[in-house]
Amino acid sequence: MPNEHVQIFDTTLRDGEQVPGCKLNTQQKVIIAKQLDQLGVDVIEAGFPISSPGDFKSVEAVSQTVENATVCGLTRAVKKDIEVAAEALKKARKPRIHTGIGTSDSHIKHKFKSTREEILVRAYEAVKYAKSFVEDVEFYAEDAGRTDNEYLARVCEEAIRGGATVLNIPDTTGYCLPSEYGAKIKYLKENVRGIEKAILSCHCHNDLGLATANSVEGTINGARQVECTINGIGERAGNTALEEVVMVFKQHPYLNLVTGIKTELLYQTSQLVSESMGIYTQPNKAIVGSNAFAHSSGIHQDGVIKNRETYEIIDPKDVGVNHSAIVLTARSGRAALAYRAKNLGYELTKLQLDEVYANFLDFADRKKEIEDDDIHQIIETSSIYSQI
Ligand code: KIV
Ligand code: ZN
Repeated sequence: MPNEHVQIFDTTLRDGEQVPGCKLNTQQKVIIAKQLDQLGVDVIEAGFPISSPGDFKSVEAVSQTVENATVCGLTRAVKKDIEVAAEALKKARKPRIHTGIGTSDSHIKHKFKSTREEILVRAYEAVKYAKSFVEDVEFYAEDAGRTDNEYLARVCEEAIRGGATVLNIPDTTGYCLPSEYGAKIKYLKENVRGIEKAILSCHCHNDLGLATANSVEGTINGARQVECTINGIGERAGNTALEEVVMVFKQHPYLNLVTGIKTELLYQTSQLVSESMGIYTQPNKAIVGSNAFAHSSGIHQDGVIKNRETYEIIDPKDVGVNHSAIVLTARSGRAALAYRAKNLGYELTKLQLDEVYANFLDFADRKKEIEDDDIHQIIETSSIYSQI
């Protein structure tokens, strides 16, 4: 089977920036956009231009800066929003308007106090209007995760009739199970008239910790764009993490799904976003967390020292991390201590290691993590030091 390209639509600067208290200024957005462009994302959603003059300015500045990726601006299905987005995107080499409306019964009834038929008309008109400004129009069916498939297919058909090139199927509330979300994409692929004119896009939230799994299942079932953020940041529990979905495809080549991401830039991009937003990345975060390639238990350390692949499925260099870490704690074994000691210039015989290890355990029971300085001290205060 030939490889199929999955577009990476990065929404760190729009959905990601909706994290409470993590507003970015224009300069920070431009720096992150440049990094995303280098990383190789296909689309950068730069903001929601009508939401504030500051966001308008940021979308304008990102549009002027980005050289390769498509630059996208979000709108509601409202004429004024679309006009403002088109204005903000004027200087983009490849502009895209991302317009849409809520399609679940709950959104239609409570948010819009409208009817299913009226929503179909609004979807069509919004896309058609956006299309009068730019060629590339993406339509989102907000809360598609809780919209019944038959009605969702009709909404998609109206968006295609209006000229949409991408159909975004958001699991806005992060409610779907992977099997359910995958089946939704498959249903749309098989039942929407005119679907060959557009690609389906996954936009999954992480309220149940399933955003990445849902996005992967969506692509396996035919979606060809994934919407995601660096470090999975976003409102509530966040969005699909870009680094996770990209590495899932890379580590499972038989899926025949490929992206254009330069994975060796993932770690530095993660650090940039975390520092700019002031959001600390959890140590056990997959791919980019500080413990993602750290080994602390004796059994694992012994295995990794013998052969990295015993306990690592990813070469840390592939994501821009220099090397795996052997963290010395009271759970570490002799192999790890000997390995770290050797790196510090001490070749220990078996007998010497026995004494140093006993002193090490005594020390490690009192201190959580043993640093290089501690090892120097442990070895140099051992009775065997004069023989080393
Ligand atoms: O989660 C969502 O539904 C969204 C849309 C506005 C695209 O972010
Ligand atoms: Zn979202």
